[in-house]
Amino acid sequence: MDDATLAGLRAALAASPDNLPLLGMILGGLAEREAHEEGLRLLGSHAPDDLDPKACIAAATLLALAEERERGLAFYRSAVTAAPPLEDRELEARLSTKPAEVPSGKPQLRVLSSGRLEGEGGEVDTLFDSPQQTVTFEDVGGLDDLKKRIRRKVMLPMQKPSLFKRFRKRAGGGVLLYGPPGCGKTLMARATAGECGASFFNVAISDVLDMWFGESEQKLHDIFVKARESSPSVLFFDEVEAIGGRRRHSQSTSSANLVSQFLSEMDGFDGHNEGVLVLGATNVPWAVDPAFRRPGRFDRVLFVPPPDRAAREAVLSIHLAERPLADDVKVGPLAKKTSGYSGADLEEVVETAADLAIEASIEADAEVPICQAHLIEALSEVRPTTTEWLTTARNYARYANEGGQYDEVLDFLSKHGKR
Ligand SMILES: Nc1ncnc2c1ncn2[C@@H]1O[C@H](COP(=O)(O)OP(=O)(O)OP(=O)(O)O)[C@@H](O)[C@H]1O
Ligand SMILES: [Mg+2]
Repeated sequence: MDDATLAGLRAALAASPDNLPLLGMILGGLAEREAHEEGLRLLGSHAPDDLDPKACIAAATLLALAEERERGLAFYRSAVTAAPPLEDRELEARLSTKPAEVPSGKPQLRVLSSGRLEGEGGEVDTLFDSPQQTVTFEDVGGLDDLKKRIRRKVMLPMQKPSLFKRFRKRAGGGVLLYGPPGCGKTLMARATAGECGASFFNVAISDVLDMWFGESEQKLHDIFVKARESSPSVLFFDEVEAIGGRRRHSQSTSSANLVSQFLSEMDGFDGHNEGVLVLGATNVPWAVDPAFRRPGRFDRVLFVPPPDRAAREAVLSIHLAERPLADDVKVGPLAKKTSGYSGADLEEVVETAADLAIEASIEADAEVPICQAHLIEALSEVRPTTTEWLTTARNYARYANEGGQYDEVLDFLSKHGKR
């Protein structure tokens, strides 16, 4: 704002001192000039509610210069609540006595990684006490059939062990989830734990193998012991092919020993695995040692398919929830256009659309919600990733379908006309 304009506005305000929009404009000009003495005199005892968001930012800037932090923060917060694009972390930091809080990211899976395992003795313990965000089936879009089967085959035996014992059914053992990348295997494993109120331990095998050279077997044993102690519990081995890769492919004896250890832990020779559910996930099931599939081990093998149309709608809705949305957003047509997209791909579409809306908001200096056009533009930027996996899986299902292990894949392919 140039000096002449400012002088004109001052004169106008002198003539009508109650004109709040005018006051707001002048505060803007004064904030630019860092003229806080005059600014605060004009602001007087006005409250944030008296001013529009931009004027509130000007007032907050002036108050920051005068080191009236608390009042400044009230103006700043009011502005940002009404108009999030005005967020200005530097100003906020100047007004805060405490450093500005950085919002924490998405809940992370607890991964048994090298960092956690270092140090003397009892390392495995550190796995078991950190609090975690609960995920339930509600957070998983679609996959209704799988949810039903997990309820029946996995959760019920955990919830009613005596009943199962009477019928001489085991409550324990393992379930192997397999399917294309990004379609919710890890998410489903977490949700299963959340649904049965069990403790959930996520073990990333690739980390285990790197870290535990030599001592691996003992550590693996300790993990199972801990899981048994805190039963009911779900022990989740992601990328299980890393440990259960066909033994003829693994040259080193140490990894062969680890496989044997893993198998005997799963057998739970004293029947002590009650209440411990071992979940495994892999996107290369054909690389998993068949010995892992024997009764009592991963004897239940479940296919986690790419989301169908209804599931894609659900996944999109889950990821769009709690974001500012325009009225024209319709997930139906988007679901129709995204055949072959995985859940992770769809999440990426939403993220990209949100980026577009943020850019538009910054340009407009006002919150622009995510609209259908943003989502459609995002679609063209994100490619579906499940096709390649399905092509490979089809070959195994056709030519190496021992014991009908890939029947579910064949079903899926024929339902979707890809067989
Ligand atoms: N059915 C779904 N509902 C909601 N979100 C989903 C779904 N499937 C995938 N996602 C999203 O995609 C992300 C990746 O999914 P997840 O890690 O479960 O895939 P995965 O099958 O384990 O893949 P990978 O084989 O690469 O390990 C999830 O964190 C979630 O945000
Ligand atoms: Mg995964």
